Amino acid sequence: MTLTETDPLDTRLAAPGSEWWRTAVIYQIYPRSFSDSSGDGVGDLPGITSRLDDLAELGVDALWLSPFQRSPQKDAGYDVSDYCDVDPLFGTLADFDEMLAQAHERSIRIIVDLVPNHSSDQHAWFQEALAAAPGSRERARYLFRDGKGLDGDVPPNNWESVFGGPAWTRVIEADGTLGQWYLHLFDSSQPDFDWSNEEVRTEFRRVLRFWLDRGVDGFRVDVAHGLMKADGLPDFTPDPEAGSMGGDADDVPYWGQDGVHEIYRDWHRLVAEYSGDRALCAEAWLPSAEKTARWVRPDEMHQAFNFAYLETPWDAAALRTVVTDSLRIYGAVGAPSTWVLSNHDVVRHASRLALTAENPQGHGIGPTSPGKPVPDLGLRRARAATTLMLALPGSAYLYQGEELGLPEVIELDDDARQDPTWFRTGGERYGRDGCRVPIPWSSDAPAYGFSSTGASWLPQPAEWATLARDAQLVDGASTLSLYRTLLAARRARGLGSGDVEWLEGFGDDVIAFRNGTITVVANAGDAPVALPDGIVIASSGPIPGGALPADTAVWLADY
Ligand code: GLC
Repeated sequence: MTLTETDPLDTRLAAPGSEWWRTAVIYQIYPRSFSDSSGDGVGDLPGITSRLDDLAELGVDALWLSPFQRSPQKDAGYDVSDYCDVDPLFGTLADFDEMLAQAHERSIRIIVDLVPNHSSDQHAWFQEALAAAPGSRERARYLFRDGKGLDGDVPPNNWESVFGGPAWTRVIEADGTLGQWYLHLFDSSQPDFDWSNEEVRTEFRRVLRFWLDRGVDGFRVDVAHGLMKADGLPDFTPDPEAGSMGGDADDVPYWGQDGVHEIYRDWHRLVAEYSGDRALCAEAWLPSAEKTARWVRPDEMHQAFNFAYLETPWDAAALRTVVTDSLRIYGAVGAPSTWVLSNHDVVRHASRLALTAENPQGHGIGPTSPGKPVPDLGLRRARAATTLMLALPGSAYLYQGEELGLPEVIELDDDARQDPTWFRTGGERYGRDGCRVPIPWSSDAPAYGFSSTGASWLPQPAEWATLARDAQLVDGASTLSLYRTLLAARRARGLGSGDVEWLEGFGDDVIAFRNGTITVVANAGDAPVALPDGIVIASSGPIPGGALPADTAVWLADY
């Protein structure tokens, strides 16, 4: 369906600067782990529809759905075989339309995931490419190259897959001989498109329109920094010290190439043809806010995930710096800053903020990892970090289950793990399953209410009974109650569109600022801190005797 005059969401274009996405709180749903209506142990679209009242009550403005499109699920749906259909695992297109209509009915917008860097190897185009000859039009949609060496048995270059192992796989040609190689920056089941090919661009315009015509409010663009590769595909050896990027964006021949920007300018123009301020959000892992800001210049995407913020430790000076820089740098290109602490690719922040050893993004934690989080400390810090985040002006992203204070699941059995990272590194990296465990709704129901049959595609820990939504709803001190309080006050006081005014005098370990009518004080040190006068609107933990304890944050108001 498309939005109509009678649609409850106001679909007129807002005045520039006041579009909904500038201030929105966007809740990420990982469909396979959210709510399972069919009882097969994998969440689905009718499951989401059945929980929309709960999400409205939580107080979020929009939902971003990780992929539910048709896919063999080798990378949990980030391997799409048909961009314009729903995978039967999750339901049907009619279920999608119903979910979207019901969400709009509750003034909740819907953002869908778009995966343009690569398709599944089961996509019709890739199957056609395998059947076609080297040099054919079918192969030109992907990055097929001849191997090096006398027999062509050496990969075309030395690039490595993000999930471990080589980024090239050799195919068997139609005549049964070993043939060309194709590039896959991720799993071998995820061949990269060749975005210098106009046919690929045309096809994705069709995909964008397909979902826009159905009424979606925007797209989260997967691996938005990866679409273009440097001419000639030169060798590159990542610097292990350079974080998840492996180097400065200008040097890495497969990340952040200038050519990506023209693609997003094209999409910006296309999206702007529609009513309702539809938005594009870049998932671009880049080494700094300066680099990321190039993705949100006025004629490109509308938002980009602020991964610099996500990667900042619980440290007052570092947090002040990243907030100041983000507001300045994104502000300079007219974009809102975004804020995010958790998603389906990182260790949940209720565990990450209390890790005691380095843990590179994507590696995950498991039973034998060093530096496991200190129990309880992670949740205290996570609650404080979210209290700080939700007072910041801009748009904030939440990941399903963080409103319940869910920790990373560390004690998953090896044979339960499903992340391709685990398999491609021979178990050296645990990967991301620990943040993807289906979430608990009811303390004493099968699978804690995730599915009526008790089935769950990843096992849920027994301790999650006490973290279930129904138990937290009736507990005024629960993490869920905290989130509801913060979200309601953020909306009522317009904090998404305010400014940060830093307050001094609290000591080096304290982050203190004013946004509109709220004073935020967060204590990242060891000793309690005396609070200024004010009415406590929200607090991430108890404040005994009026002094703010370590790892606690508070919102104070004048009225
Ligand atoms: C993005 C997704 C991640 C996926 C990868 C490959 O980083 O967030 O989950 O594995 O892209 O599509």
